[in-house]
Amino acid sequence: MDSPASLKWKRDLLEMEQIKEGVKRVFLETFGCQMNDNDSERILGFLKNISYIRTSEPSDADLIILNTCSVRDKAEQKVYSALGRFRELKEERPGLIVGVAGCVAQQEGQKLLKRAPYLDLVFGPHNIHKLPDLIGEISEKRARLVAVEQSASINENEYGLVSASGEKAYVSIMRGCDNFCSYCIVPYTRGREVSRESADILDEVTRLVESGVQEVTLLGQNVNSYGAGADVSFPELLRLVAGVDGIKRVRFVTSHPKDISEELIYLFGEELKLARHMHLPVQSGSDRVLKEMGRGYTASEYATKVQLIKRLYPDMAITTDIIVGFPGETEAEFEETMALLMALRFENVFSFMYSPRPLTRAASFVGQLPLDVRSERLQRLQDAQREISLARNLELVGRRVEVLVEGTSKSDGSRFSGRTSCNRIVNFPYDGINGPGAFVEVVVTEAYPNSLRGEVPQQGK
Ligand code: SAH
Ligand code: SF4
Ligand code: F3S
Repeated sequence: MDSPASLKWKRDLLEMEQIKEGVKRVFLETFGCQMNDNDSERILGFLKNISYIRTSEPSDADLIILNTCSVRDKAEQKVYSALGRFRELKEERPGLIVGVAGCVAQQEGQKLLKRAPYLDLVFGPHNIHKLPDLIGEISEKRARLVAVEQSASINENEYGLVSASGEKAYVSIMRGCDNFCSYCIVPYTRGREVSRESADILDEVTRLVESGVQEVTLLGQNVNSYGAGADVSFPELLRLVAGVDGIKRVRFVTSHPKDISEELIYLFGEELKLARHMHLPVQSGSDRVLKEMGRGYTASEYATKVQLIKRLYPDMAITTDIIVGFPGETEAEFEETMALLMALRFENVFSFMYSPRPLTRAASFVGQLPLDVRSERLQRLQDAQREISLARNLELVGRRVEVLVEGTSKSDGSRFSGRTSCNRIVNFPYDGINGPGAFVEVVVTEAYPNSLRGEVPQQGK
């Protein structure tokens, strides 16, 4: 076995060889949703082809990229403060290239270059494949470039470069969104909805499995409308993906409640590789607010679907997103959301204060609520949900669950951590025989609002 000194020596040697071969370093920070995580993987794929390796130290980097999110104002502000940190680095090393990608890049375009004079590159989510050319041009001419064109079709060269580094991977099955919910900026930043061909998706999944992936999450803003213009429907696609040799679990996000079909719901009965979890954002429990949001369902239509799913599959976890303090939301309407929460008892809820976004209709609705009202409602909702999440987790104590091991626990390095099919995090002391990527039977011993603890039962018990 290598001693720490010889390991360091080997690392230095490797580094010297890489520098000789012209390897460069990229520091990449990702904000926002799983789409952005997947885009970051693709950014790294393109950069690898032009000899960039990743570094976790901005001060080592030849290229810095922030892959950004603008879904709420707070997310956007985070980007500006992160960007500010790199001004000094750029002053010290003028050769450093600093770029902004993602939804803030798409939303702000040229304006970002004005706002941050040390920024070299702004590129939107449809322009990832242009990255090698853009970087070439910046290096040669010291140009400052903006690439935010949106295209109506998917360029398959943009996909498939993803290299998996673990047991789980995301696969984008579509891009964009056509729903234009009145509060949401995503249709503007991600463009119109387009589906990828099933053969290309299956190719990508097959390659991921060959590199060790066991669980894939199919990604889209509204996966239930996958297939417009593609060759198969979403349930058919799920069957095909679950049929790929070696795949153990298939997940998908996000399902829009208005488009979820009975065919999809019944598929969970046949296709046991589908993970027992569905993320079904409801946004509000008030029919008036849902209408103003443009969601296309009522609270009772939503509840009926959830109840059907729960009746058919008692083990299925259902999680949701909620926006509180939408313009004009009255106290009574907020109480309707609370009542829906109490009635449906979601396993987990992602809740947000309404945030007015540029370009969206709701930003100019009358009745914008002050911050204190929005934040007080959020607090009440989160307090109530914490108890519900804990109660739902307590129901699992004493049960055996199958955990896909991901690594060591964030809070306790002596424990392993992984997820159940129903997407709960389980931490447990482990003998370490198999490590990350193993499926381990664990008995749940303790429950917390956001995780479970368990033990691996001894053989024969
Ligand atoms: N396509 C997904 C959601 C993507 S955005 C869907 O339709 O469910 C993720 C979540 O951010 C949304 O579900 C919503 O709850 C929240 N969100 C979007 N825009 C927001 C805004 N302007 N203010 C507060 N929350 C918002
Ligand atoms: Fe936004 Fe609505 Fe599209 Fe989801 S479905 S991304 S909330 S516009
Ligand atoms: Fe954010 Fe863009 Fe995703 S706005 S939530 S990164 S689609």
